[in-house]
Amino acid sequence: MIIEWTDAYKIGIPGVDDDHRKLVDIVNHFFAQAQYGVDTRALGAILDQVAEQLGEHFEREEVLLDRNDYLDRLSHSARHRQVMLQLQRFIEPYKDGSLLHDQTSDKAEFLSHLVLKHIVEDDLPFKSCLRTLV
Ligand SMILES: [Fe+2]
Ligand SMILES: [Fe+2]
Repeated sequence: MIIEWTDAYKIGIPGVDDDHRKLVDIVNHFFAQAQYGVDTRALGAILDQVAEQLGEHFEREEVLLDRNDYLDRLSHSARHRQVMLQLQRFIEPYKDGSLLHDQTSDKAEFLSHLVLKHIVEDDLPFKSCLRTLV
C-alpha cells in the first residue's frame, strides 16, 4: 500500500517528522518497485536502505528521548528493537532468494504497516510532550 503522507502523521518535532517522511518515501519506492515486478534481490537492496534509515532514525529518536527524560523511553527503545527484528525477518527471504516473485506485492503491505504503526502508535504520543522535548 502506498502511504499518503498527511499532517496527521506529524509529531511536531522537525527532525523526527523529516525522518518519518523520508521513511515513508522509501517505503513507497519499495512498494512501487514491488508492483512493477522488480526482482526480489533488487527489492532486498532497497530494504537494506530502509533498515539503515530506520536504524539511524531510531538512534536519533532515542537520543532525543534520553535527553528529555521521556517517561516511556525504555519501553519505547525496546519497541524499536522489536521493529528492527521484524524488519530483518521480513528482509531475509528477499535476500536469500526464497521469496517467490508473485508474493512480493502482498508481502510489501507488511512493510507499510510496520512503518505506519511506528509513527502512529509508537511516536504520536510524543506530541503531548512537545513543550519539553527539545
Ligand atoms: Fe519515529
Ligand atoms: Fe519511535
